[in-house]
Order: sequence, then structure tokens, then C-alpha cells
Amino acid sequence: MKTVWISDILNGKHDGQKVELKGWVKRSRGSNKIRFIVLRDSTGSIQCVAKRDSVGDECFENIKSALIESSLIIHGEANPDERADGGYEIIVDSVEIVGPVNPETPFPITESAMAAADGGETEFLLDNRHLYLRTTRMTTMLKLRSTVFGAIHSYFRDLDFIEYQAPNFVAGAVEGGSTLFEVPYFGRKAYLTQSWQLYAEAAMPALERLYTIAPSFRAEKSRTRRHLTEFWHAEMEVAWADNQEIMSYGEGVVRKIAGSLLDERSEELASLGRDLDVIGRYADSKYPRMRYDEAVETLQGLGVEIEWGQDLDYSKEKILTQDFDVPHFLTHYPKIAKPFYHRVDPDDDKYVLCHDLLAPEGYGEIIGGGERTWSEEEILARIDEEGTPREPYQFYIDTRTYGGVPHGGFGLGVDRVCSWLSGADHIREVIPFPRDSRRVTP
Ligand code: 4AD
Ligand code: MG
Repeated sequence: MKTVWISDILNGKHDGQKVELKGWVKRSRGSNKIRFIVLRDSTGSIQCVAKRDSVGDECFENIKSALIESSLIIHGEANPDERADGGYEIIVDSVEIVGPVNPETPFPITESAMAAADGGETEFLLDNRHLYLRTTRMTTMLKLRSTVFGAIHSYFRDLDFIEYQAPNFVAGAVEGGSTLFEVPYFGRKAYLTQSWQLYAEAAMPALERLYTIAPSFRAEKSRTRRHLTEFWHAEMEVAWADNQEIMSYGEGVVRKIAGSLLDERSEELASLGRDLDVIGRYADSKYPRMRYDEAVETLQGLGVEIEWGQDLDYSKEKILTQDFDVPHFLTHYPKIAKPFYHRVDPDDDKYVLCHDLLAPEGYGEIIGGGERTWSEEEILARIDEEGTPREPYQFYIDTRTYGGVPHGGFGLGVDRVCSWLSGADHIREVIPFPRDSRRVTP
């Protein structure tokens, strides 16, 4: 008999047919005569009704003993029934238990039981992450995530960008020394990369338009709702482009992500309580651009203590973006707030030609990027000015020495985008095994 997906039954593709289902027990209840098993596969869940009279005593006892999360193969008839959740139920002919659950270690895997066992705290769920992944909410998040990754690849590939890979063991910082992870490397020191960018710039004269989606690593000590120590970073680099053009790619990819979620995952978004009109606005709108100075004035007007020259931390971005109805670009940050690779504004050397894209609803920064310091003379001056040793960056300086050209790019925090668009309270809700300063297990 052909195995079918639960979603296909719910979509009316097997009405009245005898089918085989493979899945896991989500819930089970009933009496000594009749059992109701809610079976789950990766596509959905459906109620299966087993009567002692039709399946026989032995099979019925097996069904009764099957604990939540046991894996089963069920044969039965797909029966349209208005009273059932989803409009269908399976009238069971037989059940085979494939992988039972050890009765010594029953685990409260149902969503409500997990929430209760958890007492509202997340450590329990994090300790048992491999089981938590099976809940409807987490499964939904993982599906949204897959759509987001697919949308990023499509966006850049449709524009003829080349996917390019950089090393993850590196010799120097990109985003400042304080968040570098040091790793022993055969008697020397190496670091886990914070960004693909510098090695992408090295390939810019070869490929001109390049992108990646790869993990980046930051030794972030503070635990916030938007920081991971290992996060997924979508980065792009493009030759001959200025800050304005680079921002249009940032706007393009975020709009593409929102549009793909609407096309492919509107049911999932709605199940998370997301307003589809809001996601539609993110997919269709232009994203306004404002200068850093304007943001600082706005914040000061709101009574926030901030001095010109400070980078905006999460608390400030949260206040600033609470009432935004679409993402906003902030440009022209003070030079003192940004690393050496940012190009100084030729019109006013207090600023650099950079941008951050801030997501609305209080989420804040999802993209950081801008024009690069591209002449040999300027990059040497910026590296020296920062007191950074030149040696680990020689390949990077050479990119300028041998035919440097104007160029730039950005990095987008994929987990942050997933968190914002799904409406999650915390970034760890959208990644299967989150890593932060206190956790590398399971
Ligand atoms: O703003 P960042 O530090 O910029 C760079 O790394 C550049 N080198 C990128 C480039 O121009 N190619 O990081 C880029 C984005 C941030 O806007 C944020 O969305 C995300 O990466 N990000 C993090 N996401 C989760 N956890 C963290 N600890 C993150 N740090 C940065
Ligand atoms: Mg940044």
C-alpha cells in the first residue's frame, strides 16, 4: 500500500481511499473499546480512530500501550468527517509500532505538558531541544527558516551573483577584537570568523558579484533576545557599487524574503498569530533612509540618553524602531563607531559611508554594510589609526594594491530576520540548537 502524507489527506487527495500513514503519536486517549490517536508526520497531524472490534484484541492492546512519540505505521481509510480537526479522520484497520518509547523515561512532549513542566522557564526546553524540535511551534519555525534560506539564494542567484565560500578559521578580526573566539591551532592561535567579508573582498576583482550564507561566530558574553554566539550570516559583496546601490540590494533581499514567506508559508505565519497584511507591507514597501544624526536627535527628543559618536545598542534601537511601520536604513555613522574597513565620507571625514537596516516592531538591526575603504593609501591609514597590526591583513591590503576599485556589501543576520518575521520573542526560538555564552549542549 502506498504511504501518503497527512497534508495530502487533509487536502482531499485520498477521500475514501485505503492508505498507509507513517508517523509519531502526538496524543492518545480513549476507552477499552475505542482509541483516538492523533498521528503526526512532518506535514501535519490527523486523528486516527481504532475500534477493538475492527483491529482485534492484540492490535488494540498495542495501540493502548503506545506512548506519546512512539513511531507507528497505520493502515486505514481516509474518511472526510466535518466533526474532526482538519475535516478528516482515519478509520484504522491495523497499527504497527515501529519504535516504542521506553516507559521508564516517559517525557512530557505534548506542547501543554512541556510548557507546564517548563514552568515558563526555557532551560528545560533547551536541555531537551531534540524533543522540543518535534512540537508544532518549533516545526513551524524550522519550515519558515527553510523558506528564508531559499529566498536569499534565489534573490542573489536571479541577479547572477556567484555563491562563494570563505574560510572559517582566520587570523584576524573583522568586527573588533572583543568578540573573537580564539582557537588553538597547532601551536599557533587562530580565530573563528566573525564575517565572510574580508575574504569576499579578496575575490571581488574575480567575481564582482558574490554572496554566501554561512555561520559566523561572535564571543558575545551578554545574553540578549537577538544575540547568538554562532549565527547564520547572509553576506554579499559587489564591485563598483556605492552605499545607495548596496542598500537597494539589502532592501531587495528583505522584501524577497517577506514575499516568499507569504507565498509559501502564509498558513504557518497565521498559525503563529502573524498579520499577513503586515508581512505584505514588508514585501512591497520602499524602506526609508535616514542619517545617524537624525536618529540620535529623535532618540534625544524621546528623552533617551545618547551621545553623538556612540553606536546604537539594542536598547536604543528598540525604542527607535518600536513605531516604525517598515524597516528603515540608518546611514552615515560616525567613523569612531565603526571598524577600519568602512569608507570615510569624502564630504565629511567624521562619518563613514555605511548603513544598518533596522527592523520595525522593536527588533532593530538586521543588516550592517556599506562602502569599503578601497584605496591602498586609505586602508593603510585606517588600519594604522586603529592600532591594528597590518600583518594578518596583508592579503586584504593587496586587494587595494593590485587594481583596487570602489566596492561594498552587507551582512544580514538570518536568524534575526527569522525572529522578526515570525514574531518570535527571542532569537533562540528560530534556530534548532541555539548557542550562547552559557550553552553548547545538546
Ligand atoms: O553588523 P555586523 O557586525 O556586520 C558585519 O559583520 C559585516 N562584516 C557584514 C558585511 O558587511 N559583510 O553583522 C551583520 C549582521 C547584523 O546586522 C546582525 O543582523 C547579524 O549580522 N549579527 C548577529 N546575529 C545574531 N547574533 C549575533 N551575535 C550577531 N552579530 C551580528
Ligand atoms: Mg552591525
